Amino acid sequence: MERSLTMELVRVTEAAALASARWMGRGQKDEADGAATSAMRAVFDTVPMQGTVVIGEGEMDEAPMLYIGEKLGQGGGPEVDIAVDPLEGTNIVAKGTWNAMTVLAVADRGNLLHAPDMYMDKIAVGPEAAGKIDIDAPIIDNLRAVARAKGKDISDLVACVMDRERHAKIIHEIREAGARIKLISDGDVAGAINTAFEHTGVDILFGIGGAPEGVIAAVALKCMGGDFQGRLVPGNEEELARCKKMGLADPRQVLLLEDLVKGDDCIFAATGVTDGELIKGVRFSGTKATTQSLVMRAKSGTVRFIEGQHRLERKPEFVMKD
Ligand code: FBP
Repeated sequence: MERSLTMELVRVTEAAALASARWMGRGQKDEADGAATSAMRAVFDTVPMQGTVVIGEGEMDEAPMLYIGEKLGQGGGPEVDIAVDPLEGTNIVAKGTWNAMTVLAVADRGNLLHAPDMYMDKIAVGPEAAGKIDIDAPIIDNLRAVARAKGKDISDLVACVMDRERHAKIIHEIREAGARIKLISDGDVAGAINTAFEHTGVDILFGIGGAPEGVIAAVALKCMGGDFQGRLVPGNEEELARCKKMGLADPRQVLLLEDLVKGDDCIFAATGVTDGELIKGVRFSGTKATTQSLVMRAKSGTVRFIEGQHRLERKPEFVMKD
């Protein structure tokens, strides 16, 4: 993949954020998602690459845009797999709370796991604790390992967990171990990425969320030298059959970072829609808007925070029409 692709891909997440941020706090999550999806789709076609969506808005018969198998890009350039979540945190935008982002991940063709739309059990950490986690080990063992790797006490650690009934046992075990918890309402991609940035105050992510989001978070952590392990959680016979169709002999096998994203190169890009610990949401002021994005590449290990100032009169497609 060419280095210049990273900047091209930020334009894609910026466009999706500008379009969906207009829906912040309006209680209409589908409209916010739709706006992000169409803007993302439009800008992808200006990017010099030959992309195929492997994780997207659904199968071809369910999603009009960014469906699995859809070809994206201007043509020419590298052949790549693309994973998109045009709006990660649709409920967040509807309510106007924390950490909604537009996100995408790109890798050379064949290198991203084609994760089906089902749940995945996840554990994620930043670079200092890479290689120290084990999704099969008890919570306390993982906390001990992370504390040791980071030179902290367990009581100093903060674990990010989605606030869901299914996580009652995990939450209990983290509390029993003496670590602190940050419960989030949605958005476990941001939760996973935050583990790699000390100033977010998050040391580890535990819990079950979407499998597609798991692959996207794994790409981000690979770019930063962090670590991620996952395990699909098929909820019924149909989901079980989908795991087998993907070629997983054991659908419950542990998926290591290298199983989720192969090779030494991949790119992750995200733009804030609402404010988060890492990047701020979109600010509008008349015909101007400001975006904050995060873009990183595994091969170089470069992590960039980019502030974009946009002239909306020159981007009429990103202005919400009531
Ligand atoms: P959406 O953007 O599709 O609303 O997903 C947000 C999210 O919170 C993800 O970050 C997370 O992986 C998943 O939903 C969790 O699903 P559930 O709400 O079913 O627990």
